[in-house]
Amino acid sequence: MCGIVGYMGESKIKRILLDGLKELEYRGYDSAGFALMQNGRIEAYKAVGKLDNLIHKTEAVQSSGFGVGIAHTRWATHGKPTELNAHPHQGRFSHVVHNGIIENYTELKKKLQSEGARFLSQTDTEVIVHLYEQLAERHKDSAKAFEETVKQLEGAYAILLIDERCEDRIFFAKKGSPLQIGLGESGRFFASSDAALVGLCHEAIYLEDGCWGWVSPESLNLFEGESPVSPVAKAIPPTLHSAQKEGFRFFMEKEIYEQAQVLGDTLMGRLQEDRVHLEEIDRTLLDGVEALRLCACGTSYHAALASTYLFERLSRMEARVEIASEFRYRDPVLKSSELFVVISQSGETADTLEALKMAKRAGLKTLAICNVDNSSIVREADATLLTRAGIEKGVASTKAFATQMMVLWLLSLLIAQRHKTLDPALLAQEIAAMRHAPQVLQVPEKLHDRIHRLSKRYLHGHGFFFIGRDLFYPLALEGALKLKEISYLHAEGYPAGEMKHGPIALADSELFTIALLPGTLLKEKMRSNVEELIARDSTTLAIGPECFDLADDYLPTQPTDHPMLEFYEMMVVMQLLALEISIRLGNDVDMPRNLAKSVTVE
Ligand code: G6P
Repeated sequence: MCGIVGYMGESKIKRILLDGLKELEYRGYDSAGFALMQNGRIEAYKAVGKLDNLIHKTEAVQSSGFGVGIAHTRWATHGKPTELNAHPHQGRFSHVVHNGIIENYTELKKKLQSEGARFLSQTDTEVIVHLYEQLAERHKDSAKAFEETVKQLEGAYAILLIDERCEDRIFFAKKGSPLQIGLGESGRFFASSDAALVGLCHEAIYLEDGCWGWVSPESLNLFEGESPVSPVAKAIPPTLHSAQKEGFRFFMEKEIYEQAQVLGDTLMGRLQEDRVHLEEIDRTLLDGVEALRLCACGTSYHAALASTYLFERLSRMEARVEIASEFRYRDPVLKSSELFVVISQSGETADTLEALKMAKRAGLKTLAICNVDNSSIVREADATLLTRAGIEKGVASTKAFATQMMVLWLLSLLIAQRHKTLDPALLAQEIAAMRHAPQVLQVPEKLHDRIHRLSKRYLHGHGFFFIGRDLFYPLALEGALKLKEISYLHAEGYPAGEMKHGPIALADSELFTIALLPGTLLKEKMRSNVEELIARDSTTLAIGPECFDLADDYLPTQPTDHPMLEFYEMMVVMQLLALEISIRLGNDVDMPRNLAKSVTVE
């Protein structure tokens, strides 16, 4: 959801900014731009669409010697993705890039306009630069002007601002959107995420909300409100490397194939013979916990939903799920006996982060299940279980989901151990299935070929229903989400038993049903539901271990005695199906239209 990069130093500024944006492009790709300041003059460049357009447009741009630069890749919130709305936004002598939303921009804009400011864009961001310039003229002190500007902004922001009148400074501010300052040998760096700092610096300052300041070649000036604070640098995780496609057509494809390996990483050190051991969880975290309240968005929400079946069945613990954007504006009844569990791949999702803060204010203990160490959610939560999926670049989440499910399964067994809800033989069976899970995530070439061939029959129609029961209902939701995210075809996930209460009215040969038919859970019930749809001529693709003759198409999974193994295998089949359909439709699988990987606005 917008990516920000900044640099001050003597290396090739344009290269550093564009390379940084490349790493952050998954956060938004409606437009991109950068501004370079050398010898007291700022030049800005912008292009609509993917970053490549900006790269081509600025091939001739060069910089040498000391300079500063700020750059941005945008996911449009206020105003269409046009060049005028692309960042950086400019005033008469300064430029700004911003990630987040300025909630009081309408009133600020009116006031500034009435005082003579000329706005060029429809964005909320532009108020920042005009407000700053007005205050800079008034105070004749750029730091004071920046401080006053930040004080007047409401909403969420990560901001970088440069000013021709102080050519060796980058001003920054952070509230609610991520921002880090990288400390490198060749200068100071700014980025919305570690990914853009790798290879440039070993340490970064992860800014807290409410922080602002400026960097110059000699100093780093950091404040919280009016008080100076000492910057604390942390090492950038050594395992973080810039992701490459490694021969795959898309990052999403590579990430599907990586799942077997990363699931092994998720399990590493967390299984001890016949027990689960999660050293990140202090014994006291679960003391007095009688129920779980899980909260997330998007794919992470589906992982939360699926996990409730595990918590109930294995841990005999009540588990309730909340969509973060709904939870925030309700007046939820929260009990101190509930553990509040947030699930987030990025650790930056604005709604999930705010929900977490709400739960903390209400006195609940909190646990984050997250893929990004040092992210805002990780820093806010009392405890964290990292999913260890590695960088996920495809906007449609795959390996992050697989590892979230594994962590949630581990947690359900940890609680089961504590509450003795599973006898030792059953616990041992669970752990054996867990150890086997990475194997079922391996993608057989034959299966991928078959899905590729089959996909050509599913490129049209008036809609898809992904149906399942029990654990496989949230999986159906996730299958439908994957397809709609990258194919732009209408798809819905539904509990199979509910189809007859309305949606079956849509059934005809142009309605595609993707039916999850596991061998381990509610097999016969599920078959009946599918037959009801087939009787109404819905074109049906069955996925499961037993061939289903009545269906139009069938994709096999391995017979097994554990539902989670079927869950994982079906998950891969649906991911590949969505991928192949999207490729045939000629879409950009990794950067689907209108979406962004990390949603840092509410
Ligand atoms: C965006 C992404 C989804 C993701 C959701 C929640 O919409 O495109 O893939 O599931 O945000 O993100 P989180 O990082 O909190 O898991």
